[in-house]
Amino acid sequence: MSEPRKILVTSALPYANGSIHLGHMLEYIQTDMWVRFQKHRGNQCIYVCADDAHGSAIMLRAEKEGITPEQLIANVQAEHSADFADFLVDFDNFHSTHAEENRELSSQIYLKLRDAGHIATRSITQYFDPEKKMFLADRFIKGTCPKCGTEDQYGDNCEKCGATYAPTDLKDPKSAISGATPVLKDSQHFFFKLPDFQAMLQTWTRSGTLQDAVANKIAEWLDAGLQQWDISRDAPYFGFEIPDEPGKYFYVWLDAPIGYMASFKNLCNRTPELDFDAFWGKDSTAELYHFIGKDIVNFHALFWPAMLEGAGYRKPTGINVHGYLTVNGQKMSKSRGTFIKARTYLDHLSPEYLRYYYAAKLGRGVDDLDLNLEDFVQKVNSDLVGKVVNIASRCAGFINKGNAGVMVDTNAAPELTEAFLAAAPGIADAYEARDFARAMREIMGLADRANAWIADKAPWSLNKQEGKQDEVQAICATGVNLFRQLVIFLKPVLPLLAADAEAFLNVAPLTWNDHATLLSNHQLNEFKPLMTRIDPVKVQAMTDASKEDLTASQTDTGDAAPAGNGELAKDPLSPEIEFDTFAAVDLRVALIVKAEHVEGADKLLRLTLDIGDEQRNVFSGIKSAYPDPSKLNGRLTMMIANLKPRKMKFGISEGMVMAAGPGGEEIYLLSPDSGAKPGQRIK
Ligand code: 2FM
Ligand code: ZN
Repeated sequence: MSEPRKILVTSALPYANGSIHLGHMLEYIQTDMWVRFQKHRGNQCIYVCADDAHGSAIMLRAEKEGITPEQLIANVQAEHSADFADFLVDFDNFHSTHAEENRELSSQIYLKLRDAGHIATRSITQYFDPEKKMFLADRFIKGTCPKCGTEDQYGDNCEKCGATYAPTDLKDPKSAISGATPVLKDSQHFFFKLPDFQAMLQTWTRSGTLQDAVANKIAEWLDAGLQQWDISRDAPYFGFEIPDEPGKYFYVWLDAPIGYMASFKNLCNRTPELDFDAFWGKDSTAELYHFIGKDIVNFHALFWPAMLEGAGYRKPTGINVHGYLTVNGQKMSKSRGTFIKARTYLDHLSPEYLRYYYAAKLGRGVDDLDLNLEDFVQKVNSDLVGKVVNIASRCAGFINKGNAGVMVDTNAAPELTEAFLAAAPGIADAYEARDFARAMREIMGLADRANAWIADKAPWSLNKQEGKQDEVQAICATGVNLFRQLVIFLKPVLPLLAADAEAFLNVAPLTWNDHATLLSNHQLNEFKPLMTRIDPVKVQAMTDASKEDLTASQTDTGDAAPAGNGELAKDPLSPEIEFDTFAAVDLRVALIVKAEHVEGADKLLRLTLDIGDEQRNVFSGIKSAYPDPSKLNGRLTMMIANLKPRKMKFGISEGMVMAAGPGGEEIYLLSPDSGAKPGQRIK
């Protein structure tokens, strides 16, 4: 037996000004499954995290809510902790960057860097809000795009034409906080001299610490030449004051990764057998892994190892990068109800469904992962309920009734149990490599074999025959043993299912090595259903509830690049109209008799509509949302029946159907409640 490894693991620190959503949860679940696997194997593995509590966005949000930043971050920390616990994300410590340990470590690291000559100072000119008396980060300045003239664009890029520019290029700039016109002002800033570490980074990033795709991206940045990094912000700012520099604060991204150390330090302070230096000291033999999303690679694979090196600490063993989450093939969207908060999910569904689905789709690469809600229901129901739990429920009853719950000691399928044993190293390798998808495929392959074997033996038929009791008991005891092995393999992903299975199996908490033994002459406890099928109605209720959350807060600091998952819907303002104007519109219920493609038209569908006493021909620009028009046949919708007929290239359009949404795939044809009849007027 080799010595247990010492491993320290982190996930990115969530900002303390917004809720956790399923996009964040992908990372915490991924990390938690890996950590649980390591613990299951008998390694010492410690998983720490914290809220990322500093920055101007947090300061401004607290001000808006009329509370102190300390109160805001305490509230959010309570919310985050509950979300993580309920998703079975089992941190050894969940701390905050706004903590004494972090203040001390940040100061100490900064002073070491400064004294070694890695800090530069120079004056920079920036926009300043004369009313709020604060410098404005790019995201807090709005104005007219210098390139295309679109109004109301942020200080660094235009959402309309995609141009990137300096805030000083914006026409008619305004402070997004007070509305005041900002003025240019100079201030002394502190810079970390990243180029001092070019050679070290060149080697470190190519030493197996990064996935290939990430190392290649970093190589581009290294080839382009590194820049000094601005690590200071002026008061007012919610953060730590820089030692010897009153009124100057560490930029949130300086003390955020140090928060990993601080959280661990806080844990060490109350755990005597844990030694901080054994994990962070220059000569540490422990492994250190950071799990992050692909949007924050530069902070973790350039700035962070350079800071550690410059301050005399060890560097990470690996940075494990994952892609973004999409839902139903698209960016999470509030209007589609796919911007799903952790709590909203938990209000409707069990955490293990999502843990399993993520595991089944997570490879070791940086590709985005799609949560397709239909596939989610289908896969969880078929794999977990239909395959894994099914094995136990098929066998348990016969053992209970036929042998008072005692498993006999006959192994009726030695080849199969041998195959399960032989599969274990491959499954462990897949977990170790974070290729959860491969691990799940192999485990489900075993479950298929177990089910096929039981179906072939058909204990339910044998049980009806005279003198077959011993055979029935041998088959079912073997089935339960195979089930137990699957549970051992799945435990890092499904800790609750494993705990319930342990209760049924009447065994101590299972560890990885237990897969090498079988239960025999063993008393089981009563079998209770271990998992129920996902009801699609609950998934619908979850997306409906997410649509109601439209006012949910944003989750970026305003200082850093947005996470890429958010979307804010803007309502165009409509002028008021008189009632008579409205009353003049002839709105009718219409039956779509036929919907078809129009030869040569990219966007249009031809609709034949029945409005009671007549049929209308309407061309409608909804093809992007309804690529298979026949699906609309027979459906009721609403139309404006007295719109002046319009001559179009393809024929005359006699009215207009009503739909909502921004366009593209997001066009939603309106429908009346069932019972409405074609031709009825809408009042
Ligand atoms: O991007 C983010 O959400 C940051 N709050 C992550 C910080 S990770 C670490 F460096 F602290
Ligand atoms: Zn523009």
